[in-house]
Amino acid sequence: MQIHALELTSFRNYGHLSLPLAGKLHLFLGGNGQGKTNLLEAVYLVATGRSMRAGRDEEMIAWGSPEARVRLDAESLRGRYDLRVDLSRRGKRVYVNGSWVRRLGDLLEYFSAVLFVPDDLGLVKGGPEARRRFLDAQLVQALPAYREAFTSFHRVLKQRNRLLEQIASGARSPAGLDEWDDSFVEHAAAVIQRRAEAVSTLSPLAAEAHGKVAGRKALTLRYRPYYMDEGAPDEVGSPEEIRAQVEASLERVRPMEMRRGSSLVGPQRDDLEIALDGRPARLYASQGEQRTVVLACKVAELELVAGYLGEYPVLLLDDVLSELDPARQAAFVDVAIGRTQTLVTSTEASGLPVDLRRSGRSYRVREGQVSPEA
Ligand SMILES: Nc1ncnc2c1ncn2[C@@H]1O[C@H](COP(=O)(O)OP(=O)(O)O)[C@@H](O)[C@H]1O
Ligand SMILES: [Mg+2]
Repeated sequence: MQIHALELTSFRNYGHLSLPLAGKLHLFLGGNGQGKTNLLEAVYLVATGRSMRAGRDEEMIAWGSPEARVRLDAESLRGRYDLRVDLSRRGKRVYVNGSWVRRLGDLLEYFSAVLFVPDDLGLVKGGPEARRRFLDAQLVQALPAYREAFTSFHRVLKQRNRLLEQIASGARSPAGLDEWDDSFVEHAAAVIQRRAEAVSTLSPLAAEAHGKVAGRKALTLRYRPYYMDEGAPDEVGSPEEIRAQVEASLERVRPMEMRRGSSLVGPQRDDLEIALDGRPARLYASQGEQRTVVLACKVAELELVAGYLGEYPVLLLDDVLSELDPARQAAFVDVAIGRTQTLVTSTEASGLPVDLRRSGRSYRVREGQVSPEA
């Protein structure tokens, strides 16, 4: 996959930017608050349909402007396309080769990116939410069937929560709940099953990458649905078994859900277990081991998506290389960068490996302007 050009109009602190991106490796350097992350955010928006950091799309519109536009001239195995996202206070519209695309999800078929940010370094020690996001971000992009299950599940979850809230406050009778439970079970089971499948593909990829980035222990990843105990040796099971588990758990918590007014079980509570030599990395991994694990997980993610798509997605590295020691930097550059077009940001060129500085094209980012360096 390759971005040939990026064009921004009234996006964050960019008035107008037209940036050709021939070649594989691009390094964006500049002080804090100059617009480096904004650039990657724009690319991520076209890849995923959303920002990795804005709560609301509106936040990406330049202050004082009614709307923003991001355009990517991007090429994949499908061909070369003009991909465009328009943001206004009324919402988001996407276009492919100038034609409006009704479903946002359809945009994601044309272009994919894997993003790596310093926050990801907390993947191991952080809460389960970060680990679910790690899984979902890629699966939603690369697997249309997962995207379908995921959006349906979240729609049902929201509506079921609204009903439970009304039941708890006495505004509605519990009569309508059964119907919602049926679709909840169906979509929840689909999400669990697909995430579990993805993790069983991801785990050996992560183990292999872990060896390559000089991790000495055996890394294993395991998907753990909310109804399984931590470290339980059981398999996630067949679709029927998953559905039966979700159904049984719903039945158990129903009285409590009706009192509390919200859903208490479901894949919105699942976790990804990360273990080194069979022990939970969350509890026992040293700081250095955690970083190596995260690097391996990111490489595995790149490989997983490449496996689904038949080609590597674009790699976006926001301020993350300079956070790593030289040995881990070098290992990561070796196994990830060079496979695919990569956009790197850093405050200082000196924070980046020398090889990278030599083989990449460097730009200076200053107050929403990007200029190539000599
Ligand atoms: N909607 C917006 N309109 C104009 N400027 C914005 C908007 N959102 C953020 N900014 C500005 O963008 C800058 C942050 O850019 P960012 O890309 O995160 O910086 P960095 O180069 O440190 O990665 C800040 O100066 C912020 O004030
Ligand atoms: Mg930044």
